[in-house]
Amino acid sequence: MSDELTYGEIYAPIYEKYTTLQGKVAEVDDTVAFLERYCSGGSALELGIGDGRVAVPLSERGVKVDGIDNSRSMLELLAKRTDLIKAWQGDISHFRSEQRYRLVYCVYFTFTLLFTREAQIACLRSAAEALEHEGVLVIELGVPGSDPRVGRQQTTTARLVDHENTILNVAVHDPLNQNLVSTLLWFSGTSVRRLPQRVRYVYHQELDSMAECVGLELAERWGDWARGAFTERSERHILVYRRGSP
Ligand SMILES: C[S@@+](CC[C@H](N)C(=O)[O-])C[C@H]1O[C@@H](n2cnc3c(N)ncnc32)[C@H](O)[C@@H]1O
Repeated sequence: MSDELTYGEIYAPIYEKYTTLQGKVAEVDDTVAFLERYCSGGSALELGIGDGRVAVPLSERGVKVDGIDNSRSMLELLAKRTDLIKAWQGDISHFRSEQRYRLVYCVYFTFTLLFTREAQIACLRSAAEALEHEGVLVIELGVPGSDPRVGRQQTTTARLVDHENTILNVAVHDPLNQNLVSTLLWFSGTSVRRLPQRVRYVYHQELDSMAECVGLELAERWGDWARGAFTERSERHILVYRRGSP
């Protein structure tokens, strides 16, 4: 991927349509109901806030939400939807906030867009510092074992096929760095878009260890936003880490 073009700049023009097709807009009510429980009168910070898919409905429930994103285009989409949310341009792997939050959250697969272990640990450290005492960090991740791209050197998988769209993911796996370097090829009508991205997948136990290193303790682990159990068949995990005494 080109260094200048971040995920947000690449995806912003098609983000709403893409997340709708992927079912991410339909599940927002469950996501927001899950997150709201941890706010209890305090405020929340979203890491990689994007166009506000989650933050806007959360703020409409009365939670004061702030956000960080490194993509100007994503922040412009957010600003068009609401003026209730304060969001700033920055890197979620190294940020500082004067304010302390009851909840910091990083959903979808945003955390894995930090494609080095060092950047992921730095993000956890920044998040821990932004939390109030007893505040929680919620992270949503895909489960690597359920991802057909992990364990193979190269894969091409169909993400969606309907009358109007064919979305393919072409990926190369770098197991030494736990990286998947991939491109979505989105054919629609007579046009095709190339959407490159790179992620570092992470196993839940590794994430627990990284979180522990920065003073966060695992409080809960779930398999979905409806608080289904995390099992060997889960395709994602939702981790809740609590900040203990400084
Ligand atoms: C998968 S989207 C998720 C957006 C939103 N959280 C949602 O759930 O719909 C990832 C977002 O994280 C942002 N992002 C990726 N890497 C980032 C970084 N290092 N610092 C800040 N934002 C980042 C992207 O611009 C994008 O808006």
